[in-house]
Amino acid sequence: MFKESDIKEFGFLNLEVDKDLDLPKEIQKLCEEKNAVILAHYYQTGNIQDIAHFIGDSLALAQEASRTTADIILFSGVHFMGETAKILCPAKKVLIPDMKAGCSLADSCPPAKFKKFREEHPDHTVISYINCSADIKALTDIICTSTNALQIVESLPKDEKIIFAPDRNLGNYIKSKTGREMLIWDGACHVHEEFSLERILDLKKENPEAKIIAHPECQKPILLVSEFIGSTAALLKFVQNDDANSYIVATESGILHQMVKKCPQKTFIPAPPKDSTCGCNDCNFMKLNTMEKIYNALKFESPEIIMDETIRKKAETPIRRMLEISEKLGL
Ligand code: 13P
Ligand code: SF4
Repeated sequence: MFKESDIKEFGFLNLEVDKDLDLPKEIQKLCEEKNAVILAHYYQTGNIQDIAHFIGDSLALAQEASRTTADIILFSGVHFMGETAKILCPAKKVLIPDMKAGCSLADSCPPAKFKKFREEHPDHTVISYINCSADIKALTDIICTSTNALQIVESLPKDEKIIFAPDRNLGNYIKSKTGREMLIWDGACHVHEEFSLERILDLKKENPEAKIIAHPECQKPILLVSEFIGSTAALLKFVQNDDANSYIVATESGILHQMVKKCPQKTFIPAPPKDSTCGCNDCNFMKLNTMEKIYNALKFESPEIIMDETIRKKAETPIRRMLEISEKLGL
């Protein structure tokens, strides 16, 4: 039976799904019946990526959410991504498979502390990475993603004082690229902070022809040994256009699914984390989503993102600014 109290307890509807169901087919059927669209991030498991109507990085997903004509958006990613879709589409129903799919980076920026920090620097323009809560977005002037952070910072006058939040690794990377003075919030993503430089260099010794490529949420020592740095979409594009045959990939391992699909002849080696015997680095939040949770979410239209309208409106302005700048720049 459908139990709304499950959402509080488990984060999702804890209903058993008939093992004999052809889930991809049933999910597609529900989407057609309800005019629903499934948007999925590259960090989702391969089977979820394969049933999604649109797969992308954070920027592409926000852009797609803002233009979809569907009545329901099922966002298979983490909470702040579903929240962003709801901020952009208040009239639509936005579902996520699991309410407990959070984000350590978003959590590293508590709104009350950030509000105080912002108030201490009233002459600064606040640029926040999209990986933050709606409350932080509401305290922000312009949102950015890893695809457009550099261009967003450079779109401001050279002498503009900037606060960059919440990711210190992306902030420091952009600071080094632009030479801009920026106050950087001390937050980080536990997945990208976990990569082991030592194990990556060991892999490079074993595979000298493999290029190391990394997401800018990684720590500086990893970025320094990387031959290409970019968002998940940029990494995917790079491996398709580059002439090397193998890559050591320092970001969440879900992206490898698309890399292998797009370049079946190439070899992709996931960069390993520090404290694990495991060879790859998964985001435990992203990986909470399953086909069964997606099926139940679509069938019962729950869990749904519900937002306070005042916060939503305040959070919408900096996201729209990002979308406008990105459109002008053809991103
Ligand atoms: P992008 O989707 O912008 O590459 O960001 C990666 C990420 O950490 C999403 O949670
Ligand atoms: Fe957040 Fe990191 Fe997971 Fe992305 S990979 S959702 S930044 S914890």
